[in-house]
Amino acid sequence: MIGGVIEIDLANYDPMDPLIQQCPYPHYAAIREDGPIFWHEQSAMFFAARHDIVKQILRDTTTFSSIGSNAKHAGSDAVMGEVAKIMEQGWPRAETMLTVDPPVHTSYRRLVSQAFSARRIAALDDQVRGIAVDLIDTFPDQGTIDFHRDFAVSLPVRVIHFALNMSPDVIDKIKLWSDAANVALGASPSDDDRIAAAHLAVEGQRYWYDEYEARLAHPTDDILSEIVHADYQAPDAADGETRKLEFPEIYSIVKQLMVAGNETTTKFLNETMRLLIENPAQWDALSSDPKNVIHDLVEEGLRMSSPNQGLFRYATCDTEIAGRNVPEGSKIWLMFGAANRDDHVFTDGEAFDASRDRLNEHLAFGMGRHFCIGAPLSRLEGTVAFEELARRLHRPTFAPGNTFEYEPSFIMRGLTQLDLLVEKRTSTT
Ligand code: HEM
Repeated sequence: MIGGVIEIDLANYDPMDPLIQQCPYPHYAAIREDGPIFWHEQSAMFFAARHDIVKQILRDTTTFSSIGSNAKHAGSDAVMGEVAKIMEQGWPRAETMLTVDPPVHTSYRRLVSQAFSARRIAALDDQVRGIAVDLIDTFPDQGTIDFHRDFAVSLPVRVIHFALNMSPDVIDKIKLWSDAANVALGASPSDDDRIAAAHLAVEGQRYWYDEYEARLAHPTDDILSEIVHADYQAPDAADGETRKLEFPEIYSIVKQLMVAGNETTTKFLNETMRLLIENPAQWDALSSDPKNVIHDLVEEGLRMSSPNQGLFRYATCDTEIAGRNVPEGSKIWLMFGAANRDDHVFTDGEAFDASRDRLNEHLAFGMGRHFCIGAPLSRLEGTVAFEELARRLHRPTFAPGNTFEYEPSFIMRGLTQLDLLVEKRTSTT
């Protein structure tokens, strides 16, 4: 460290380094500074950290493919063999939405957008508010709360449980199944954790298979029924020819809906709460004028937290990015978390400031064809959560003992724990 500025050694940058993961932002800034696109020799991958370059790649789904875009870290041959054997007890994997390109992506996305529609999400407003208020009601009038466990995890779990009309007995399974699905995303779990995750994956498939069969026989008014009974037109089908989706396709879709929004929304809620405590003027602004502040506060929380710090794309042909040759097959890490702090778009990008300009340009939900289908739901959860928290609590503070440690992943970024001292307001009007 020289004069308060950390010296960054990009030649030896290792995104898997747990110490760097605690605060990757100086490295992100150095990569943005280094040039439009950075070649990382050790991982044989390009890193895209600048906002304009990330956008350019996201827009061009012909040159930059999403096949394999959420690639997980493989373990040893022995453990991967064991995992494969466990997975054989379930159903074969089908790729839909996140990990496919147009025109296949377009067909699946159209079908899911109709079921996971704006009408359905808007109708969840009262329910999400009810869940948020129930959770806050469990807080003591004055004392310590485990905000991570009792709010940031519980809210998205309960919301997706309701939104997907899942049976009451699996509410405690949702987080386990979600964490299992992401166990090796930007991280290197132990062999035991990989095996446990494989068992959980099969358990989740079995649950969804039973639900699928039930909806097939007796449709109900829910997203799964709509997907099960929808007419899917594959891109290679003859004109007007449609079919119903097979179970592996359906499972791939519901799994994405169940998993993709859970951990991400938890991380967004935790980080935004941390930032509000560190920036008391922003909490005070929210409390005194929620209607005018909430929209921008949620967007700024999303920009700063960027729970998904980046995903991958693959060059489908020899191409160029900002004058640099990018050969066919190259892997590129699109660093949403770095692009979201690019000073060329976000003045003083490291600062939390809900009154900043160009907030709607953040890339926390990606952009273009793969733009997060759950963004309206997450935004609704964030809006309701911070409105209700500010209405019902005086400004919280950190409880003693917080370590502010982040989970060991360079893709999923979020606090492992957040304990707060809270005091409820006597009146909530
Ligand atoms: C703060 C919360 C969330 C964050 C930060 C987030 C982030 C993202 C990002 C960055 C992408 C784009 C991936 C790409 O371009 O390859 C994405 C896609 C997606 N998200 Fe989210 N997400 C969130 C919440 C949700 C929720 C609540 C759901 C569902 C209930 C969801 C479901 C999906 C799905 C299915 C896709 C794939 C869309 C496609 O490929 O067409 N996400 N999300």
